[in-house]
Amino acid sequence: MKKKILGLSFGRKMSNTEVMVKHALLACKEAGHDIQFIRVNDLDIKDCTGCIACVVSMIMGKKGGCVLKDDMHILEDAIMECDGLIFGCPTFEMTPTGTFKTVCDRMGPSHDISFRKVAIEEGLAAGKSPDQLPDQRCLKPRVGAFFSVGGAMTKNWLSFMLPTMYCLTMSMGIDVVDTYEYFGAMAYNHVLGNQPVMDRMWEMGKHVADAVVCDTEEERRRWRGDHEGVCPVCHCDLLTVSEDGKSIECPVCGTYGTFSVEDGKLKAHFTEEQQARSRLYYAGKLEHSTEIKTCAAPPGQIPDLQERLKPYRWD
Ligand SMILES: Cc1cc2nc3c(=O)[nH]c(=O)nc-3n(C[C@H](O)[C@H](O)[C@H](O)COP(=O)(O)O)c2cc1C
Repeated sequence: MKKKILGLSFGRKMSNTEVMVKHALLACKEAGHDIQFIRVNDLDIKDCTGCIACVVSMIMGKKGGCVLKDDMHILEDAIMECDGLIFGCPTFEMTPTGTFKTVCDRMGPSHDISFRKVAIEEGLAAGKSPDQLPDQRCLKPRVGAFFSVGGAMTKNWLSFMLPTMYCLTMSMGIDVVDTYEYFGAMAYNHVLGNQPVMDRMWEMGKHVADAVVCDTEEERRRWRGDHEGVCPVCHCDLLTVSEDGKSIECPVCGTYGTFSVEDGKLKAHFTEEQQARSRLYYAGKLEHSTEIKTCAAPPGQIPDLQERLKPYRWD
């Protein structure tokens, strides 16, 4: 069954990231799928202003969407249209590039599946026409895979990369089946001189090509990456430690766990119940959208707010 696979590069034209994304896409094409590539840095994408018009609109049962006028619609339409998403990003100052973060902010709350699904279901039940509601392609199951690229020879110069890169797939509920960290890129004039990495990208493409045609959710979601990581859901290695030092959290999933040291190795333990409430899954996202819908203070909570703001009205 032919599916649509979209590749996004946040790197320089024809440099490491772009060629790696395209190589993974070529594996998808060989498997019989349609492919599309977008060099995101070529698009004019403005920073999110934080106006939250998108979320307010969806909470009111409307279409959502962004008030900014730029090229974001090109990216948005391609993502909504695809069944599989492969993306790569260079490391800038230990984290993904500014453009990557901007895209995450623009795709984040506005495309949060827990807001969109409720708005669509309630809207249709109330007899609204689909064009008055959020784009229903958002409900389509999608799979994803992504990789980071870092020049540094020392892996810890990329430590925030994969965890942060989940921000792009998280809100849309894309099932990530593979991730990869390419560090030490500076030792090669171009990744084309590093065959094991090129082979790994081909494998990533095959993983997406395979996952995208799976019938069951369990099989589609199955982790195909070669690194298990400390978190059994996102497969990242980053943990935060509670204030009392007795428990841990996965900062990607927002789940709580415990740890033990076995044979000198730190082991993280996340119960099935905690894993199920990962924000990579619908249940975890619903927890947060419910929190926003029920806890956000309404306008007018501070009646003399304008008066209180007066001392700060200067630039
Ligand atoms: C502003 C800037 C900051 C960078 N910071 C890091 C870093 O923290 N860690 C790292 O591994 N590489 C870092 N690099 C190197 C890039 O990740 C590397 O050149 C990568 O290959 C760029 O991807 P591209 O070739 O696909 O454009 C940095 C490069 C730039 C321009």
